[in-house]
Amino acid sequence: MSNIGSYADRVKGFSWAISEQELGYQPGGIINIGWHLSDRLCQKGLAAKKALLWEDHQGTEKTFTFDDVRVLSNTFAVFFQKLGIEPGERICLFMDRVPELYIGFAGILKMGAIAQPLFSAFREESLDTRLENAATTAVLTQKKHLPVVRKIRPQLPHLKYVIVVDAGDAPLREGEIAFDMDSATRVERFEVFPTKAETPSVLHYTSGTTGQPKGAQHVHYSLISQYLTSKWVLDLQPDDVYWCNADPGWVTGTSYGIIGPWANGTTQAVLDSGFNTDRWYAFLQKHRITVWYSAPTAIRLLMREGTDAVRKYDLSSLRHLCSVGEPLNAEAVIWSQEAFGRPFHDTYWQTETGCIVITNVPGMQVKPGSMGKPFPGITATVLDLRTHEPITEPGKVGLIALRPDWPSLIRGYRNNPDGFAKKFVNGWYICGDRSSIDADGYYWFVGRDDDVINTGGHLVGPFEIESALLEHPAVAESAAVAKPDPVNMEVVKAFVALKPGFESSDDLELEIMNFIRKKLSPLAMPQEIEFVKSLPKTRSGKIMRRVLRAQEFGELIGDISTLEND
Ligand code: WTA
Repeated sequence: MSNIGSYADRVKGFSWAISEQELGYQPGGIINIGWHLSDRLCQKGLAAKKALLWEDHQGTEKTFTFDDVRVLSNTFAVFFQKLGIEPGERICLFMDRVPELYIGFAGILKMGAIAQPLFSAFREESLDTRLENAATTAVLTQKKHLPVVRKIRPQLPHLKYVIVVDAGDAPLREGEIAFDMDSATRVERFEVFPTKAETPSVLHYTSGTTGQPKGAQHVHYSLISQYLTSKWVLDLQPDDVYWCNADPGWVTGTSYGIIGPWANGTTQAVLDSGFNTDRWYAFLQKHRITVWYSAPTAIRLLMREGTDAVRKYDLSSLRHLCSVGEPLNAEAVIWSQEAFGRPFHDTYWQTETGCIVITNVPGMQVKPGSMGKPFPGITATVLDLRTHEPITEPGKVGLIALRPDWPSLIRGYRNNPDGFAKKFVNGWYICGDRSSIDADGYYWFVGRDDDVINTGGHLVGPFEIESALLEHPAVAESAAVAKPDPVNMEVVKAFVALKPGFESSDDLELEIMNFIRKKLSPLAMPQEIEFVKSLPKTRSGKIMRRVLRAQEFGELIGDISTLEND
């Protein structure tokens, strides 16, 4: 029997108080995510239960119980306090998926600071923009990432401490501090900072169409949504061994790769290694994973290897599969039924929503290709593209909109109140995606309503790439757009107009690609560069990415009446 039982009954009787009561939260009282991920579970008798089964690409393994998580997160918290870091200050986690990332995250929240997780694949400029916007006080990192941090440090006056979790004998510079979790004196008792519902907790950076990335500010109360969606959608039960293959640099890796599952007392497995079919199947088999949260890009890569690759392993432990990040193709659902004997369940949500909002819950009939229905407690609709009134006609495409009344909606974008205000129309929060709703209430994703590029589930902002391109000496003008891709759904394609005196060539294309990879990240690197004489612009001088995108997708260009005539 699934945790959620009947979807219809849950919708009827729903109140977020269900979650508050299960977590023992009294409205107006203290709520601290770090405490809920460790101390509370120990008090409930789960101290000796395994919390983390960790493995890296070389096969090194480590195991931590909930009591280890409790004590070691205390140890982190005291270390931060002793440095002089105050509640409310930002501590960035800039690490691969090592145990210190997961446990450090809990430690940061326990002492009242804000956790700012960032992908360790970020290079100088991407890291710099986000640390500067957050006025980050400390970065928790590994030796191998120090060169990137060192390069940008002089530009970051707020950055007081760089903490290295695996320094060993490596020479450190001024302001760099070694912290070895395994050999630090364990702190058995710690007074958790009394955070309240609205106290900021996690700061995630997400990409928009214009301007630099937006810092999406979550609060401790988000736990109420993350706990219950983990229980009802991921269906986490006491004996489960759960694997979320997302990196905590992405919201999936925190909401459902740390907070939700641990708050449910679930044993989580973590593989600190990139994608590899055999490695992944071996990992599922070895740890007898029961619930797996993945993404369409990964599923498409697995599909390429076929079902024979699956048959080499005993994956009979798997009982529930979920997916997030991009549209889950009907073929992928059908394939997973054949390969694993069960379908992937689609879950739709965003950095801003903090939790799954539209989904196929266990027991609900899955219509392959549809995202499912709103999670109980989420009031959703699609709005007419022009009038912004809810559409009542089944099948008609509109903007996905949610009533902004669930616990884990972000409370704002850091230093960008206008950007956040623009997300609301007529009392609805607008997700920025298009969908239709069929006569049975199922949502069918159509596409994004803006120029943001979704590459393998990761959002990349065209503006950030264009700004970086302009820093290359040969580039006069640039536009970054999405190009359809069979595996990653979309990849970045750049249109570039060169400065006088520069000639287009394959070498220059490669040079510019590498320039972006080193400045931003491998994800942001254009997979293709097309050299053009000039770019289509509006009369006010804005690049019309829509025109370029339409060309890539073979779509109709739409209204171009504002296009500059030359
Ligand atoms: C897209 C990810 C189709 C969508 C948790 C959304 C999806 C953006 C789905 C958010 C899905 C996410 N089907 N598209 N099931 N899930 N998306 O903020 O465009 O990185 O707005 O959060 O990913 O991406 P974000």
